[in-house]
Amino acid sequence: MDINLIAKSLEQTGYIVLEQALPKKNLDQLLRRCEVDDLNRFNTAHVGRGNEKRLLPNVRGDVISWLDEQNIDDQTFLAAMDNLRRELNARLFLGLFDYECHYAVYESGTAYAKHLDVLHGKKNRILSTVLYLNENWQQDDGGELDVYDENGSNILTTVTPRFGTLIIFLSEHFPHEVRRSNTTRRSIAGWFRVSGSSPI
Ligand code: OGA
Ligand code: MN
Repeated sequence: MDINLIAKSLEQTGYIVLEQALPKKNLDQLLRRCEVDDLNRFNTAHVGRGNEKRLLPNVRGDVISWLDEQNIDDQTFLAAMDNLRRELNARLFLGLFDYECHYAVYESGTAYAKHLDVLHGKKNRILSTVLYLNENWQQDDGGELDVYDENGSNILTTVTPRFGTLIIFLSEHFPHEVRRSNTTRRSIAGWFRVSGSSPI
């Protein structure tokens, strides 16, 4: 990963899309961790947190599994993201404190309606990341990520969820939406957070 390019893009436009963000060997390991045979590890995703937590399948259709610090394959990814966290803190003074992330599997016919990643909670999300794990993705497969401008009216970029593509964006500034997928769609969604609570 070209940290200088990432830092510059985050500063100038607030987001960046990278292709082949990790070595293929690592991507293969991560894909194996979210293959369907292991789906009992996965739970239906909720919307919101605490008292506002809701199961809304029409808004959000994925099943998720948080990465496991004890798992050797997950560790590789978590270490790469922790390195990114430290490098970005050194360049952009974001004060990123930690990173939380989960595998997400969207079965055919599911989507995630337009939303912001910032939650009312104790630890605030500053930077969002999504790493895609879909080999041989076809145009008809759908499941693209549309990233909107701050007021949600114009699409700034549309990301195809291809194997190894990573998007990083400022969580508070970009509403985004996962279009309906026509096949199984796999990814890791994650968030760099600052410590403690902060008013939204
Ligand atoms: C999310 C999300 C985008 C994607 O999990 O919050 O917006 O492309 N995911 O999977
Ligand atoms: Mn999101």
